Amino acid sequence: MPSSFLFWLCASLFALTAAQNLIDNQLTQIENNLATGATHSWEIGTRAEALTELLTPSYSVFSSSSVPLSSSQFTYGPPSSLDPVLALAHSVVANRSTSNDNAQGPQPFMQDTAAGDPASIGVAVLIANWTGYTGDGGAEDYAGAARDQVDYLFSGSVPKTSDGAISHRVSQLQLWSDSVYMVPPFLAYYGVTTANRSMLQEAYTQCKLYRSYLRDSSAGGMWKHIVMGSGTDSGHWATGNGWAAAGMLRVLRTIANSQYANTMKSEQTDLANWVGEIHNGIYPHLQSNGLFKNYPDSSNSSNFDDAASTALLASTVYRLANAWGRHTHLPQAERSWQALLASNNDSSSNSTLAHFTSDMWLTPIVDPYNFGQQGARSPEAQAFVLEMEAARGDWVAAGSQGASAAVGRWCGLGVWWRWMMVTAVVGIVGVW
Ligand SMILES: *[C@@H]1O[C@H](CO)[C@@H](O)[C@H](O)[C@H]1NC(C)=O
Ligand SMILES: *[C@@H]1O[C@H](CO)[C@@H](O)[C@H](O)[C@H]1NC(C)=O
Ligand SMILES: *[C@@H]1O[C@H](CO)[C@@H](O)[C@H](O)[C@H]1NC(C)=O
Ligand SMILES: *[C@@H]1O[C@H](CO)[C@@H](O)[C@H](O)[C@H]1NC(C)=O
Ligand SMILES: *[C@@H]1O[C@H](CO)[C@@H](O)[C@H](O)[C@H]1NC(C)=O
Ligand SMILES: *[C@@H]1O[C@H](CO)[C@@H](O)[C@H](O)[C@H]1NC(C)=O
Repeated sequence: MPSSFLFWLCASLFALTAAQNLIDNQLTQIENNLATGATHSWEIGTRAEALTELLTPSYSVFSSSSVPLSSSQFTYGPPSSLDPVLALAHSVVANRSTSNDNAQGPQPFMQDTAAGDPASIGVAVLIANWTGYTGDGGAEDYAGAARDQVDYLFSGSVPKTSDGAISHRVSQLQLWSDSVYMVPPFLAYYGVTTANRSMLQEAYTQCKLYRSYLRDSSAGGMWKHIVMGSGTDSGHWATGNGWAAAGMLRVLRTIANSQYANTMKSEQTDLANWVGEIHNGIYPHLQSNGLFKNYPDSSNSSNFDDAASTALLASTVYRLANAWGRHTHLPQAERSWQALLASNNDSSSNSTLAHFTSDMWLTPIVDPYNFGQQGARSPEAQAFVLEMEAARGDWVAAGSQGASAAVGRWCGLGVWWRWMMVTAVVGIVGVW
């Protein structure tokens, strides 16, 4: 009897933790919404990264593949699952002269008032170069476009702090947490594909500098959103904390998969600790409904629940667990994952999932073009869901370690041991 009770207990605990997975058709709709919605430079870059992680994980730095990729990986050309990513690199590079008014030399991949955002497309461009992508007829100079983008970031056109942090904006010196996702992962990948260790080191240094300006020790280590110049935001914008954590994880994994891994161990440790520091600062503010507020620690009455940052941050918890064996916040990431994919019980709505519209846009979300306001549709939020799914999928494939320490360990024990422990407890309680 106890053992059937235990079976029931474990089965129900399992059912509790097994929120439904997205089905293919739903994932496809999320991808399609992302495709139609992503038009700004950082949205294109984030889309390319999300698609790589989800559809061709062996080309992502989160796999164990070496960076640069071994040519045996694309003897017969890059896999067709990478086509949408390479097509993005192609359309951006092919349109460079139109976008940049025929500029020569240092220039961003596309025109933007942000200095940092266009660089987010860089890893896709470097992969197009490295794999010798010719699906476009072979006319584009991907390596040259990447070099021009790097030279542009270090040129006098982009302001820097006195210690070298690259401004997120062109018109004024201003640091945004967002930039950590846009610039350092590209510099790191570029450093590795050009065998330039000092460029890889520079990617790490940019993370370090950004942290030194944005980390708020009076807020448990969460990062501020925007400092310096006019139009600052000293709030701890949840998406910004997610951008920073996710960007640092990509730099960490790029180093770890490179030929410099052994000589850059302390840099990897720092990056893992800085990601953990953001998690330690922000997860105490996760609400019981599994979502963060747009500003997790703000009591401003116009604050609201934000599913976008919730998804991005959850992805970084799964990634840190895989990359660094740190499981501290996994139960909370699992709670967010369950909440975001929960079924809808509201019969007056025609949507199957509580946090998606019937046509699969994540909701509620911050307006991606107005960070203090709630929005209706967010392309980047669609990408964050894909990144969460990719990261969680990798974590499940690696054995779902650290999900909820107690339940996992208990249900993993043999029936015999569970029986022994229960009889012991029943015996003790009986005697007492
Ligand atoms: C090319 O750049 C121009 C100018 O910025 C822009 O209007 C157009 O949408 C771009 N086309 C593509 C295919 O990206
Ligand atoms: C482009 O790819 C070639 C290998 O095909 C590599 O030697 C070169 O360093 C790459 N350039 C960049 C900027 O990554
Ligand atoms: C390597 O990267 C550094 C930036 O850290 C740059 O100054 C240098 O020119 C690069 N070297 C080459 C050969 O491109
Ligand atoms: C819908 O109902 C199920 C079963 O009662 C529950 O587990 C789930 O949390 C509910 N979803 C929401 C969004 O309230
Ligand atoms: C039901 O779904 C359609 C799109 O499929 C949408 O246009 C409509 O507004 C939805 N109705 C409600 C009540 O949500
Ligand atoms: C509350 O948030 C709104 C919207 O972001 C902002 O305009 C307002 O200044 C904030 N109020 C306070 C007291 O911070």
